Amino acid sequence: MERTLSIVKPDGVRKNILGEVIRRFQEAGIRVAAIKMIQLSKAEAEGFYAVHRERPFFGSLVDFMSSGPCVVMVLEGDGVIRRNRELMGATNPADAAPGTIRKDFAGNIEQNAVHGSDAPETAAFEISYFFNALEIH
Ligand code: CMP
Repeated sequence: MERTLSIVKPDGVRKNILGEVIRRFQEAGIRVAAIKMIQLSKAEAEGFYAVHRERPFFGSLVDFMSSGPCVVMVLEGDGVIRRNRELMGATNPADAAPGTIRKDFAGNIEQNAVHGSDAPETAAFEISYFFNALEIH
């Protein structure tokens, strides 16, 4: 059974789509194993996205991710890393397939409603960034 980290980003929380995002996960047979609402500090957002620190959009991304509360979740299921990414759609909503979360709710390539881990190694890092073992059920 695989696990991945999902984030409903500050734009998604502001648009009040949390329930709809979780509904799509559950309808796909994906289980929520942990969940909490948090507001990241700039330093915490920088640490989470450290792999992108040389990118030109890094400062803006950190400002956005710390601009309001996010909902972070551990999702569990067979092939959940890939399946969550399919449900999210492409990073840029302009390229996202119809019926995906980003196509339906994202404003632009930065404020793109949701995040999902892209590989087992990143999932392990990202889950441990927000949750300890006792918080995952
Ligand atoms: P995410 O899947 O969380 O991974 C990195 C994030 O950086 C991405 O979603 C976007 O929020 C943001 N991002 C990626 N590419 C760009 C870009 N070209 N311009 C601005 N933000 C970007």
